[in-house]
Formats: sequence, C-alpha cells, structure tokens
Amino acid sequence: MKLVASLLAFAAALAGVGAHAQTPAPIVIKFSHVVAADTPKGKAAERFKQLAEKATGGRVRIDVYPNSQLYKDKEELEALQLGAVQMLAPSLAKFGPLGVREFEVFDLPYIFPNKEALYRVTEGPIGHRLLKKLEAKGITGLAFWHNGFKVMSANKPLHTPADFKGLKMRIQSSKVLDAQMRALGAIPQALVFSEVNQALRSGVVDGTETPPSNFYTQRTHELQRYLTLSNHGYLGYAVIVNKKFWDGLPAEIRAALQGAMTEATRFGNANAQKENEEALEAIRKSGKTAVHVLSEQEKAEWRKALLPVHKEMESRIGKELIVEVYREANAASSR
Ligand code: LMR
Repeated sequence: MKLVASLLAFAAALAGVGAHAQTPAPIVIKFSHVVAADTPKGKAAERFKQLAEKATGGRVRIDVYPNSQLYKDKEELEALQLGAVQMLAPSLAKFGPLGVREFEVFDLPYIFPNKEALYRVTEGPIGHRLLKKLEAKGITGLAFWHNGFKVMSANKPLHTPADFKGLKMRIQSSKVLDAQMRALGAIPQALVFSEVNQALRSGVVDGTETPPSNFYTQRTHELQRYLTLSNHGYLGYAVIVNKKFWDGLPAEIRAALQGAMTEATRFGNANAQKENEEALEAIRKSGKTAVHVLSEQEKAEWRKALLPVHKEMESRIGKELIVEVYREANAASSR
C-alpha cells in the first residue's frame, strides 16, 4: 500500500514537472513612456497592464517604464522601430519628425474648440486614417489617449502676446509649435521632455507649455512663478506598437490585448480632465506658481496672434485635412 502511494506520488510529481516544463515563458511587452506614473498617460498604461495580463491569463506580461527611464522621447520611436521596445504612447507632436506630418494638425493653436470636437476627430474617420498612415513606418496605431489642453508658464506674467517678446520657450520638436511660439514673439527651443526642468534651471529656456498634469508631476511649479490658463493647444497621444511584433502575435492574444486597450482607453480618457483639474488645484495650493485666467479681451488678443498659424502651416499639414478638422469642430459645436 505504501509502495503504491509512493509510486502514485512519484507519478504525480513527474506530471507536475512535465506541466511546468510545458508552460511557455510569457510574451513580454515593454511599454516605455516619458511622463510620471501618476499622470493620465501613466495611469492608463498601468490600467492596460492590469487588464492585458488578466485577459491573457498571464501569457503576456506588460513591463511599464515611466519617466524616460528606458528611453527619452527622441530615442523611443527609434527603439520601437528596431524592436527594442514593443509599445509606446508618444505625444502626437512626435510623429511629425517621424515623417507623418499630418499629425501636426493636433498642434495647431485653437483647432479644437472643445473636447467633443477633439473626440470626433480622434474617434472618427480622420483618427482612423492617421493611425493607418503609421503602418508605412512599421508601426501599428492602437488608440488615441488624451491628456488635455496646455497652459503657458514663465517667471514673468504672460497675459498678452506682448509678454512673450524675446522669451525662450520650450517646445516639443514640432514645426507647428515652432510657428506658434514665433507668432507670439517668443524664441522656440525644441527640447526632449526629460530635459525641460534642467533647461529652466540653467536658463536655456525661460518658459514652457504643457497640460497641468505634466507641469505638476514634474514639479515644474517649483521653477516657474507664473502660469496662464491659456488652453491654446492640445496635448494627446497615440498608443503604438511595433507592427511586425503585433502581426506576429497569436490571433487570440492580439484580440485579448485589443480588448484590454479599448477598456484602458475608455478609463484613461474618462479621467484625463479630472487629473488635470486636480493638478491645477495642487499647483494653486502649492503657492509657488500664480495662476492667471485670461480675460475675454486677452483671449481675443491671443487668438488674433495665433490663428494665422493655421494658414502658415497649410502647405505642411495639408489644407484639406485642416478643413476636415474644422468641419468636425463645427459639427460638434452645432450639436
Ligand atoms: C512633451 O514632450 O512635452 C510631451 O510629449 C510629454 C508627454 O506628455 O508625453
């Protein structure tokens, strides 16, 4: 009896070893990004990780690397194309330098009168078409993630365009943002995100533009005394994967990841505005940065200075695309 029990135990152990040997190593997706974990993008990435690992029953592991830990934003797109990372969510401004200039339409000042107009573009045929354009670069676009509308900051009050004269303002590497700062009389300086605070400290730049969530989580409020709630431009992301990697995944894994992405996108986009409002509140409470709300007169002056950038950038972005976006914006406003 004892012998039978021992034999059975031995057989069970062998079966266990066999089963263990057959468990394949998980597919690892490295998801690199440049902002803090407690931002709209950082939180959506974490949510995607949880949902994706659950939906695939552990067959996929998502390793999220925030805060430019792995790559700075200049290098990360290259790393994705080479397959060193599998997933990113660069801001839409970062696709112009990759050669897909149409993405710069998102950088045009005041192009979206409200969130509805923006959603009509990202969730509609225009957004779909733009993501498709990435395929020629070996990239599959999965979703648009929102952050919010940008504020301007410096160590002097920025109430009207005249206040920008001669200020060195940090921009992302985008020709549209370059034109935007010049239209205000400022001197644009393209810098990667991880170098902004150091550049502010050393005087390489005097000011910056970003949504409150990035401003607060990078602790830029400790370096900039004045902030203007200009909401003059949009900052959002495209979640992208290396196309070869994505196409090579088993179909059922891809479907599960797609489902997780849809859900994470819904979660992230529903929370982005709240995150920015809370960040703004925290900036105000810090007492380090004075927050200016533009008067109607000031708003009109900003618009007058910045709207000509649309025309100026027509030949770069494509007039038809700009007009298409206007149409969506009108449709959103007339609802
Ligand atoms: C930036 O460079 O300012 C942004 O791309 C940072 C971000 O939100 O990813």
